[in-house]
Amino acid sequence: MPNSRIAGTGSYLPEKVITNQDLEKIMDTSDEWIRERSGIKRRHVAADDESSADMGLYAARKALDAAGIDATDLDLIVVATTTPDKVFPSTACIIQRRLDIHECPAFDVHAACAGFVYALDVADRFIRTGGATTALVIGTETYSRILDWEDRSTAVLFGDGAGAVVLQPTEEEGIIRTAIHADGKFEDLLHVPKGISTGYSPEDPEGAYIQMKGHAVFKKAVATLDSMAREALEHSGHGADEIDWLVPHQANLRIIAAAAKKFNLPMDRVVVTVDEHANTSSASIPLALDVAVRDGRIKRGELLLFEAFGAGFTWGSTLVRF
Ligand code: UT7
Repeated sequence: MPNSRIAGTGSYLPEKVITNQDLEKIMDTSDEWIRERSGIKRRHVAADDESSADMGLYAARKALDAAGIDATDLDLIVVATTTPDKVFPSTACIIQRRLDIHECPAFDVHAACAGFVYALDVADRFIRTGGATTALVIGTETYSRILDWEDRSTAVLFGDGAGAVVLQPTEEEGIIRTAIHADGKFEDLLHVPKGISTGYSPEDPEGAYIQMKGHAVFKKAVATLDSMAREALEHSGHGADEIDWLVPHQANLRIIAAAAKKFNLPMDRVVVTVDEHANTSSASIPLALDVAVRDGRIKRGELLLFEAFGAGFTWGSTLVRF
């Protein structure tokens, strides 16, 4: 059975930037509070006519270029998103059409902020079992559309963007180990309360926007880091001391710092983009990965660890030889 390797990465950020100072003007918050509690300084926000599929497509094209392959070589597309363009078809099908390719399986994975780790695991299993040879995995989100811009407890924390990777088979090490989990009993701590079958209406601020019990989510996210650290390395044949880069989900700098501690990594071995991008949910890991690959920090052959925690709760980690 082959392994799968990351053959190329890409990302996209919308042009419009909203700084903490901009938010100070429209709500009762401060740059100091946002930076101290979350590490966030600014976030990118999609234009009115810009969607998750648009951003995912840009990121995908860059990942395909970086991998040196043509879209016609793809035989699987998996998109992690909780903010799809349409109820159906999937954002993956919309992106497939725009890439002008036909017939390969294309579907979305919905696992909130852990979505990319879930989608990567699915695509990796396709490749290992011979179901695909060249897979496109995208994380793309437009959270600005599910934020109540009058709710300071959530509006300051999220941003929009997309990241993508191309996977191909290898006989060498690639994606070494992924562990994913969910526990739906925490549903109400972080959710958008209404969906299509329960009366979603964009005019209903109680139903249509993110509601989060931030402190409870924070505590659970930190408490889960232990098992994530253990599981990623278990049976992998690698120790924490071999990890070159931690590429964590970018929700909060304090959670990221706690994760670095669990893996015994100094912060200069951790890719941090939360300051510039805020929390982009499913997009945050592939976006951070692409930033660090393109600026030359992450190099071929290095050992990377992805870890994510999000609504559900869902969580997971992936150990990768890049
Ligand atoms: O990606 C999915 C997973 N999501 C996360 O991992 C997010 C997890 N949670 C967090 O990152 C943090 O809990 C937050 C950044 C959301 C909040 O930090 P905190 O240290 O847990 O603060 P808190 O929720 O306990 O709130 C402290 C105070 C409250 O005031 P009182 O009740 O102490 O008077 C809030 O009303 O801060 C107040 N507050 C704000 N003040 C200024 C809440 N939001 C704001 C704001 N600006 N934007």
